[in-house]
Amino acid sequence: MQELLFFKDVLEKSLHSETILKEPEQLYAPIEYILSLGGKRIRPVLTLLSCEFLGGDYKKAIPAAMAVELFHNFSLIHDDIMDEAPLRRGKETVHKKWNVNTGILSGDAMLILAYQYFEAYEPKLFQELAKLFSKTALEVCEGQQYDVDFETRNDVSIPEYIRMIEYKTAVLLGAALKMGAIIANSSEENKEGIYNFGRNLGIAFQLQDDYLDAFGNPETFGKQVGGDILANKKTFLYLTALQEAKPTDANDLKKLFQIKTENDTQKIEKVKAIFETSGAANRTQQEIEKYTQKALGCLETVSLSEAKKEKLRVFAATMMNRQA
Ligand code: IPE
Ligand code: IPE
Ligand code: MG
Ligand code: MG
Ligand code: MG
Repeated sequence: MQELLFFKDVLEKSLHSETILKEPEQLYAPIEYILSLGGKRIRPVLTLLSCEFLGGDYKKAIPAAMAVELFHNFSLIHDDIMDEAPLRRGKETVHKKWNVNTGILSGDAMLILAYQYFEAYEPKLFQELAKLFSKTALEVCEGQQYDVDFETRNDVSIPEYIRMIEYKTAVLLGAALKMGAIIANSSEENKEGIYNFGRNLGIAFQLQDDYLDAFGNPETFGKQVGGDILANKKTFLYLTALQEAKPTDANDLKKLFQIKTENDTQKIEKVKAIFETSGAANRTQQEIEKYTQKALGCLETVSLSEAKKEKLRVFAATMMNRQA
C-alpha cells in the first residue's frame, strides 16, 4: 500500500527533525540510539493512516503519532531490561550497551517526551488524547507485570495469557488507531470500531511475535531467537504444547521450564521440538488467523469506503506474515 510507505517516511522525517541529543549525553544518547535503530513504525503509521482515512488531515496527527512511537520505544527499553534481552532490532539493547540504570532513566525521559507531544493540541483534543494515552499506558504496565508474574507461575491458563497480551501489546495498537480517529473528529462508533480492529490485530501481532521468538530466522528477526524459552515465558505455544503433547513430552516441557539459564541451546532445541510435534506451532498459526479475522470483523463496523477497508485488510495480512 502506497500510503504505508508515505506515512512511514513522514514519521521518519519527523523523528529526524527532532534534536534529541542534549546534555547530559548519558540521558539522551540512548534515546537517540534506540530511535535510530529503525523499527517497523507500525503504530505511528496507523495513527496517521486512521486520521487520513477517517476524513482528517494526517499532518494534524503527527504529534500523536510521535507520542505513540516514543512511548513504544520507551516500553522496549524497559521491556529489554525486564526480559534480560541482549538484542533489539539487530543491535545491542540499551542496558547492554550502557547499563541498567541508564536504561531506566532514559526510558523514563522518553515517556515524558511522549506526553509532551500532546501539548500541540487544543484543550478539548488534548484531554481526549491524554486520557486515552494514560489509560493505555497503565494497561501496558499491567500487561507487563502479568507477563513477568507468569514466568514463575505454572497454572497460567490460555484466557489469562490472551488477556496479558491484550494489555501489554494490543491496546497500544488500538489506541494508536483511535487517536487518529479522535483527531479526525470521527464518530464514537468509528472510534470504537477502529480501536477494536487494532486491539484484535494486536493480539494476533503478539501471537506472531511469540511464534517468531521461537521459530524466526536469527538473520532477520533482530532479537535473540529462543529468548522467551530461556525466560520461561508462558506463551500460547507453551500453554498449547502442555495441553496437546503426549504425557512424557508435557512432563519434559514442564521440567525444562523450571530451570533458568542465560543461554542453553539444548533447552531451546528441545522445547522447539515439543512445540512442533505437539501441534502447538500449527495451533498458534490458526490462532493468529482467528484474531486477524476478528479484527477484520470489527473493521466492518467502521464507516469507511470499501477501497479503504481493502487497504486495511491488506495491511493486516502483511503484518501477520512479517518475519521481524
Ligand atoms: C515489539 O514491537 C514489541 C511487541 C509488542 C511485540 P515491534 O515488532 O513493533 O517492534 P519494532 O518497533 O518494529 O522494532
Ligand atoms: C513486548 O512483549 C511488550 C512490550 C514491549 C510492552 P515482548 O517482550 O514479547 O516484546 P519483544 O519480543 O521483546 O519485542
Ligand atoms: Mg521482550
Ligand atoms: Mg517482554
Ligand atoms: Mg516477543
